[in-house]
Amino acid sequence: MRDAQPTAIYLKDYQQPDYWIERTELTFELQDEYTLVTTLLDLVRNDQAADGADLLLAGQDLELISLVLDGQTLTTEQYELGDESLTVKGIQQRSQLAITTRIYPAKNTALEGLYRSGGMYCTQCEAEGFRRITYYLDRPDVMSVFTTHIIADAAQFPVLLSNGNLIADSVDNGLHKVTWHDPHKKPAYLFALVAGDLRVKEDRFTTMNGRDVALKIFVEPQNIDKTDYALDALKRSMRWDEEVYGREYDLDIFMIVAVDDFNMGAMENKGLNIFNSSCVLANPATATDAAYQRIEAIVAHEYFHNWSGNRVTCRDWFQLSLKEGFTVFRDACFSADMNSATVKRIEDANIMRTVQFAEDGGPMAHPVQPDSFIEISNFYTVTIYEKGAEVVGMLHKILGKDGFRKGSDLYFDRHDGQAVTIYDFVQAMEDANGVDLTLFKRWYKQAGTPLVTVSSEYDADAQQLRLTLTQRCPDTPGQSNKLPQWIPVQLGLIGANGKDLAIHVEPASAWTESSQVLHLTEAEQTFVFSDVAEQPRLSLFRDFSAPVKVEFEQSADDLLFLLQYDSDGFNRWDAGQRLLLSWINAAQQGNFELRPEVREVFARLLADESLDPAMVSCLLTLPSEAYVAEFSAEVDPLAIHAARKQVHQAIAESLSEEFAACYQRLQSEAPYAPEPAQMSARSLKNLALAYWVKGSTVGLQQAVSQYRSADNMTDQMAALVAVVNSGDAAQAEQLLADFYQQWSQDALVVNQWLSVQAGSAELGKVEFIQQLLAHTAFDWRNPNKVRSVLGAFANQALCHFHREDGAGYRLLADAVLRLNDSNPQIAARLLTPLTKWRRLVPQLSELMKAELQRIMQHGALSKDVYEVVSKSLI
Ligand code: BES
Ligand code: ZN
Repeated sequence: MRDAQPTAIYLKDYQQPDYWIERTELTFELQDEYTLVTTLLDLVRNDQAADGADLLLAGQDLELISLVLDGQTLTTEQYELGDESLTVKGIQQRSQLAITTRIYPAKNTALEGLYRSGGMYCTQCEAEGFRRITYYLDRPDVMSVFTTHIIADAAQFPVLLSNGNLIADSVDNGLHKVTWHDPHKKPAYLFALVAGDLRVKEDRFTTMNGRDVALKIFVEPQNIDKTDYALDALKRSMRWDEEVYGREYDLDIFMIVAVDDFNMGAMENKGLNIFNSSCVLANPATATDAAYQRIEAIVAHEYFHNWSGNRVTCRDWFQLSLKEGFTVFRDACFSADMNSATVKRIEDANIMRTVQFAEDGGPMAHPVQPDSFIEISNFYTVTIYEKGAEVVGMLHKILGKDGFRKGSDLYFDRHDGQAVTIYDFVQAMEDANGVDLTLFKRWYKQAGTPLVTVSSEYDADAQQLRLTLTQRCPDTPGQSNKLPQWIPVQLGLIGANGKDLAIHVEPASAWTESSQVLHLTEAEQTFVFSDVAEQPRLSLFRDFSAPVKVEFEQSADDLLFLLQYDSDGFNRWDAGQRLLLSWINAAQQGNFELRPEVREVFARLLADESLDPAMVSCLLTLPSEAYVAEFSAEVDPLAIHAARKQVHQAIAESLSEEFAACYQRLQSEAPYAPEPAQMSARSLKNLALAYWVKGSTVGLQQAVSQYRSADNMTDQMAALVAVVNSGDAAQAEQLLADFYQQWSQDALVVNQWLSVQAGSAELGKVEFIQQLLAHTAFDWRNPNKVRSVLGAFANQALCHFHREDGAGYRLLADAVLRLNDSNPQIAARLLTPLTKWRRLVPQLSELMKAELQRIMQHGALSKDVYEVVSKSLI
């Protein structure tokens, strides 16, 4: 908790530290009430520092027990203890400092630093958690070689883990003592420690150069049957990084630990990844296909950080996207290779359009490389992650696959063992390819979503098509008058037969043949296509080639055509979404009807067995309420909800027989496996079921029967959700009770049960959410449970969250205030829906703003919550 107004820190103020830490030796004595941490630091003065410069260490919630400098115990005159700092005087060009601190892991509810989760100890040090363990130069440009000793009760803690290799392990007088040594230097944010009574699932991997690596997943005993999939995903990731990036693993052991209490999804600590149990544990009975795919992606993501993040790390936290944007790009390509590339692209574009564009248009808008922050934890955002990944993806489009690989090879080789900036990454791409990316770098410094407008003119006599594109980027907090960005526009011209026409375009320099990309680099540009024998239909921004909004009038007939014939799967989906969106908007105006020819197209798609079922499922999924909101000038959530429901109902009713037939066709006798073809078929089967339930009572009976007979969570959960959404309250209540009874002993499944209810338009009323918060299955200290109830409510049950009297906002604000003290990171994340008040219709807007003001007036706000609320009210 803070006393004074928190202050921002600025990228422009970056300076190297006065000392480096060559070696860090840590000793942890884990005792019931507290933990003693003794730290030995081998310090070397930075050449750039003044002689006799003080050493300024960061520390938070620490009890300092002793300080010994070069063998001498320091007295209180020789150091200065601040609220969150320790300044030590008298450091030589080389000195050794020994620090002993006492910490209280059992009282640590913020889940940063060393804390207890269930019966075990674990750590979370990114971004600034290490300073809650000991006083340290807790900044990513200080890279050190770590040795860790852990001493704990042998009976309670048979497993004691840290980074690197195990070099000593003994039991002596009931005490278990181990020593781990990590030969790779690393910043403190990658440090990890785990202690517990854990079971382990083991495997091995041989790297491309023949290194034999032991793979181990540690879990609490009851979860040992949920480790197989993550282990397989890990091996696929290791192989993929060798094949696609030439990157090999660099230790003899790689460990993953699953913990129940975790603020984020997972963490890439060197050689010892720590995972939120929801992001690693799965078996067919308890995990859905979606959970399996998330696990595969997260295991890959954290593994890929070993190179993009650990071997080459960030100079400072303003460079966060250097590791996160690049690694999200890498895991997205991996997932695309493992499953359907088009479906993955659709999912990512959906997140950009619903979540990232909203962030860009709101009070927390910031560039991929921010200029300032108050609390770094607030900057693990969709902009840093997903927009950062899109920016890397555009480099990939611009340079091509081989050019990009040359650039990444140079980057890893040039900067191995260093802490670098985003521009070092771009520089390597430039140097390896001999290109000038000066213009491109604007993507990193300008916040906001560019808007591209399109106009075209076809001249039949000259067989010429003129395409004029303009771009502008709206103002964002602290930024106006933005410059044009380098926007790759992947496109096709489609003839009446549905085939792509050959492209001859001027200026030729603006066209990359191999990736079919136009380069829009100015505020306005006209491209002239010649030898265009017929008036083509335009397919623009194929594969979502840039994270921009596009203003382009295309007729409903053109969209219907693209939905059926575009050779680019992403644009087929996009055309469909634009159609569906126009219907939802029409329904809001009270004039929507489903035209027969449209119905026919949908019917054909449903019956087309040559298409990937998962793709058909995407094509027939309505834009979410959040998606519709993001495409509306003024957001009226209740009207959007009603309109979307009407369109959904119309499609369900008019195609009910087709949905039933599709559902029946996709029934399978094969035993469940989380593999791509099966997952794809199930996604369409369960989409068809959801529509069928809405369109006929036979569908409802079928859903109940699927619920009863399912042998896997995907089908059980899909049936449960379909019944909950059917509006048959009695049936829903019965199945929900049955489900809870079946699964009450499995925390991860119970969380799914909580979130189905809290996120449901049928059930998620404010009073009901209050009941869920009082349920024995709920626990305020567990972030997964908070997300399952409050996250689901505020982000999915929009018609209840936006209740006309503001009770939904009040509920969320109360939760934020409650969590502000115990877990500020979670409190700040929960706030996001309340930051969007400016976009809402006036009455709701006022109510939401009032809740933010109420939070602001609360006494001791954490930095995390203070930053989000204060910026939202400017
Ligand atoms: N380094 C992060 C985890 C992290 C973030 C720890 C912020 C502490 C503070 C990790 O690599 C990560 O990005 N995890 C993501 C999942 C990933 C698949 C995008 C997460 O935890 O959500
Ligand atoms: Zn990451």
